Amino acid sequence: MRCIAESVPHSLSPIPGAGGSTRLRSFEPADLPTIIEIVAEALRERYDASLYFSLRQAWPEGFLVAVDSRERPVGFLLGVSQIEREGRILMFAVDRNQRTHGVGSALMLEFLQRARTKGLRRATLEVRVGNVTAIRFYSRFQFSVVDLLRAYYSDGENGYQMARDLP
Ligand SMILES: CC(C)(COP(=O)(O)OP(=O)(O)OC[C@H]1O[C@@H](n2cnc3c(N)ncnc32)[C@H](O)[C@@H]1OP(=O)(O)O)[C@@H](O)C(=O)NCCC(=O)NCCS
Repeated sequence: MRCIAESVPHSLSPIPGAGGSTRLRSFEPADLPTIIEIVAEALRERYDASLYFSLRQAWPEGFLVAVDSRERPVGFLLGVSQIEREGRILMFAVDRNQRTHGVGSALMLEFLQRARTKGLRRATLEVRVGNVTAIRFYSRFQFSVVDLLRAYYSDGENGYQMARDLP
């Protein structure tokens, strides 16, 4: 039986719920200033630009960006593959004003599809135990908790590792 998430189209055409003109593509260097601002607001972290470039190096297609009609990023997903046959979502966030319109779902579906195309068999991520919105979101995409990561975050909060197979 196909699950709901898998029945959504994987195309790079506009995301229907997000105003019609938002679409997905791979990361481009001009996206970085806006992505840094999204990360600062959504993830409360501020990383140096060089980190994004070095993380992208091994698998450029794993760094996905959702852009509006003016090519301004409204969300992104940065996935890496550091373990054989495994993809890991390192950063994932949507601009606060653009949430619950399907941008996050479109990014996730495209990431899962690109991971399969690359031959990956498993996807993993880490999330704060208190981030119930993200945990519910990931559960909808068949991720389940596989480990408790004690004091995983710099402020001492525990994390969950979540994972799913990529059939
Ligand atoms: C997690 C996150 C990326 C999801 O992005 P998003 O764009 O809001 O995701 P979606 O819009 O696809 O889905 C969010 C919810 O809106 C619902 N939704 C999607 N499109 C919708 C629409 N057109 N109308 C009404 N509801 C809709 C979805 O069903 C979903 O509900 P659920 O998660 O309870 O199942 C976003 O909440 C975020 O950036 N959070 C802050 C950063 C963060 O926590 N990142 C994860 C760290 S590990």
